[in-house]
Amino acid sequence: MTADAVAAIERGLAELGEAYRDAFATASSETALRDEYAKVLGKKQGSLTRVMALMRDVPAERRPDAGARVNAFKDQVEAAFTARLGELTSAARDAELGARPFDLTLPGRPPVGRGHLHPVLQTRDDLLTIFRDLGFEVVEGPEVEVEENNFTKLAFPPDHPATDMQDTFWVSVAGAPDDARVLLRTHTSNTQVRVMSTRTPPMAVVSAGSVYRRDDDVTHSPMFHQIEGFLVDEAVSMADLKGVLQAFAEGLYGPGTPIRFRPSYFPFVEPGAEVDIGCVFCSESDGTRATCRVCKTTGWVEVLGCGMIHPEVLKHCGIDPERYRGYAFGFGIERIAMLRYGIPSIKHLFENDPRFLAQF
Ligand code: FA5
Repeated sequence: MTADAVAAIERGLAELGEAYRDAFATASSETALRDEYAKVLGKKQGSLTRVMALMRDVPAERRPDAGARVNAFKDQVEAAFTARLGELTSAARDAELGARPFDLTLPGRPPVGRGHLHPVLQTRDDLLTIFRDLGFEVVEGPEVEVEENNFTKLAFPPDHPATDMQDTFWVSVAGAPDDARVLLRTHTSNTQVRVMSTRTPPMAVVSAGSVYRRDDDVTHSPMFHQIEGFLVDEAVSMADLKGVLQAFAEGLYGPGTPIRFRPSYFPFVEPGAEVDIGCVFCSESDGTRATCRVCKTTGWVEVLGCGMIHPEVLKHCGIDPERYRGYAFGFGIERIAMLRYGIPSIKHLFENDPRFLAQF
C-alpha cells in the first residue's frame, strides 16, 4: 500500500508531465496558456492537487523525498510556463510589428451627439449674465434649509398656507433635535435672508437654484428653478426696481419690450407686485392676439413677483429699516425658458428625452 502510494505519485507526475508539455506547446495565446497552467497547478482543481492527495498514504520516512519530487515537478511546470509565455509574447509582438502600420496622420473621428447645457441651465446663465452686467453679485444658497430662513425671517405668519404640509417638503435630519424644522427650500428667498443676515449694506445680489414644492401640472413641477435678486442701500425706491426689471425684460426679449406692474401680496415685501412682460409671441406676427395661447390673448405674460423688502424682514436680518431700504424680486426659470423656446409643458424639461434636448 505504502510503496504503491509512492509509485502512484511517480506515475501521476509522469502522466501530468506529458500532458502539460503537449498542452503548453499547443497553446496559441496567452489566455489559452494560462488556462492550461491552471489545469495543472491551479489551487482548487489543478491535477497536481489530486496527485498530492496521495501523499497521506506515504510513510513518514519517505515523505521528504516524495515532497521534494513534487516540488521539483512544480518548478519544471513554472519554468516551462514562463518559457512558453515568453515565446507567445514575442510572437505577438513580431506579428504586430509585421502587420500594416497604423496611420497616425488619419484625422480623428468627430464626436457624435456632443452634449450641451440643459435649456433650463442655458436660460439661467443668460439671465444671470443680464443681472451681472447690471452690477449684481451672484451668490449660492443651500437647498436644504431651516424653517427660520425659508419662512420665519421672511415674515410668513405661522399659519400661512405655504408652510402647510400640502406645499412643503419637510425633511428629518439624523441626529438633529426633534423640534428642528428643516425643509427643502420652497423659494430662493432663503438666500436673501442669509446674505442680509451676514452683510452690511449696500449690497446687490442675485442667486439661482433649485426649489421644491408639492405642485404638479403642465406649468408647475415639484422641483423647479428660481432666480432671486435684491438690493439694499440707503436711498432705494420702487422706481429703481422698475428700472432694473425694465432692463431685464429688454435684455431678455429686446429693446422696447413693455412690462407692467400689478399689485400683489407676498408677506416679505410692502408694497408687493407681480410683473408681466408684453407677449412677444403674438404682438408682431399678424397684429392680433386672437389665437395666442401663450398670453391667452391678453397681451401680457406673468413672469415674476417683487416688491420693497418689508421693514420687518430687514429687522429680522439685523438691518436698520430706518436707515436702509431694499427691493427684491424672484421668478421661475422654467417659465422663462418655456416662453423663450415656445415649450408647451414644463414636463418636457424634466423628461430628459434626447430628441427634445437636442433641439436647444
Ligand atoms: C416666490 O417664490 C417669491 N419668493 C418671489 C418673490 C421674491 C416675490 C422676492 C417678491 C420678492 P411665487 O410663489 O409666485 O413667488 O413663485 C415665483 C415664480 O416661480 C412664479 O412666478 C413661477 O414662475 C415660478 N413657480 C412657482 N411655482 C412653480 C412650480 N411648481 N413649477 C414651476 N415654476 C413655478
